[in-house]
Amino acid sequence: MPLELPSLPYATDALAPVISEHNLRMHHEGVHAGYLKRLNTLLEGDDQPKRSLENIMGTGRGEAQACACQAWNHTFFWQCLTPWYHPPSQAIEKALSAQWESLYGFQEAFMASAMAHFMGGWTWLVYTPQGRLDIHNAVDASSPLLKGVTPLLAIDMWEHAWYVDFGSDRRKYLQKLWDIINWPFVEQCFEDAIATAQGRRNRLHA
Ligand SMILES: [Fe+2]
Repeated sequence: MPLELPSLPYATDALAPVISEHNLRMHHEGVHAGYLKRLNTLLEGDDQPKRSLENIMGTGRGEAQACACQAWNHTFFWQCLTPWYHPPSQAIEKALSAQWESLYGFQEAFMASAMAHFMGGWTWLVYTPQGRLDIHNAVDASSPLLKGVTPLLAIDMWEHAWYVDFGSDRRKYLQKLWDIINWPFVEQCFEDAIATAQGRRNRLHA
């Protein structure tokens, strides 16, 4: 059973004018689908044909692992964006402000980290096993899941994500993305990460 391309959680023209329909179609139906197509080819003849992406990410090697990471990262990235913007809740803004002094401080730190990419990669807001929020840059096809941290927000910094709509202006791409960030999704990931960490601590002390 080949791995299938997940549908976008919104219409292909829904993120315009920040991300144009042309760019989103190219990104989803071209780039994202391409990783899955290549992965399915690599897995032909695999003795475990029903492996999940997460399983391949954790146990695979080389190109198969890279394709699985890229496919998983893109699915997560689509969920981090929304045409139905809702500002961050007090809870997530308070948590971000505790780490970076304010929501604005977090956004500036996040964009500075993203702008530090020399080639393609991802910038993530993550929740660490130490119970801290942190910003991680991942080069190429890596994923936070391989680093033992929980992803809360992903931004695709590969050139295909921004060049079509913003030319060489990567900072403008980053600035405009804040208008379509899916804060309720980020907050849900944050709450789930805290609950998982609490459950782990409870089991350790049981
Ligand atoms: Fe991408």
